[in-house]
Amino acid sequence: MLDIIMKPIEKEMAMFNSYFNSQFKSDIPLLDSALKYVSEGAGKKMRPMLLLLVAKCLGDVSTKALAAASAMEMLHTASLLHDDVIDESDKRRGRESLNVVYNNNIAVLVGDYILSQALNNAATARDYKIVDELSILGKALSRGELMQFDIRQKISYSEENYIDVIKCKTASLFVCCCACAAYSANADDELIERFKKYGEYVGICFQIKDDIFDYFTADVGKPTGSDMREGKITLPALYVLRESTNPLIEPIKEKLNGGGFLDEQDIETLLKLSVEEGGIDYANATIERYRAMAIEQLPAGIPQDIHDALVAYLNYVIKREK
Ligand code: IPE
Ligand code: IPE
Ligand code: MG
Ligand code: MG
Repeated sequence: MLDIIMKPIEKEMAMFNSYFNSQFKSDIPLLDSALKYVSEGAGKKMRPMLLLLVAKCLGDVSTKALAAASAMEMLHTASLLHDDVIDESDKRRGRESLNVVYNNNIAVLVGDYILSQALNNAATARDYKIVDELSILGKALSRGELMQFDIRQKISYSEENYIDVIKCKTASLFVCCCACAAYSANADDELIERFKKYGEYVGICFQIKDDIFDYFTADVGKPTGSDMREGKITLPALYVLRESTNPLIEPIKEKLNGGGFLDEQDIETLLKLSVEEGGIDYANATIERYRAMAIEQLPAGIPQDIHDALVAYLNYVIKREK
């Protein structure tokens, strides 16, 4: 799948990587070593891949698109540094997270630095629409994280709220990648809207898939059940909490509805029931629904290799193992 995705943008991804990586250094030794640590633990680069694919679909990949791709990966990287502080996570990308290697203060400050670098990259594109998108995106990411807290405090766990959160904290980035790619190619409004919808549905699939990892022991660089331990109830568990008639679910529901935290035994039970009573199947079926909607958005008449790459991209999001 990765071959099909990368084929139309091989040269452009190489250019992206060298531009992106060149920014992880500083004359301040502490910042320099922290940035080095962050760049050595590179991620999958899903967002720049998407941005470059859509840009390529609509024309040539311009320096504007490369700057926007870097801005998006920077913002994503910064949000992960902050996320690990918020979630008190000790692992990221299969290694110790920055908050563990250093501490929370340094992880927040390095996150701020990389966030500012994202703004700088967006400004480099010299297109106010791209800066505009990035600033709105920054707000959406924060709103998503805060909504997550709010849901826990108000005990308003529901599938609708769950989807709202993942649209904000995850899908917004994919939408923004598609929008910036379309702007960089001066696409018309209809194409912009189509690709933004494609990005939104991809992003929703992406987060549901990510949340499913938490129910299994496969090594994806973070421990099983960590979402529940953080008070996050994701789609598979939401489904069984709503649908299961198993008596074991009742005390867990009562605890959650009373605003209590789940203990290790509850978490083990809820994980097990989510797997055994159709929660994972339901989440996978939901992914399939959004996958079909995403494919419907792809405009007719786009180059075949890019069409195939955009379908492969969606399949990769759904089938990936980490
Ligand atoms: C992780 O995103 C954050 C989520 C939205 C779940 P990725 O899985 O794309 O992270 P990296 O960049 O590859 O580590
Ligand atoms: C990841 O969110 C960060 C954002 C999407 C902003 P999560 O906390 O749900 O994801 P992981 O599991 O730490 O990657
Ligand atoms: Mg987290
Ligand atoms: Mg989080």
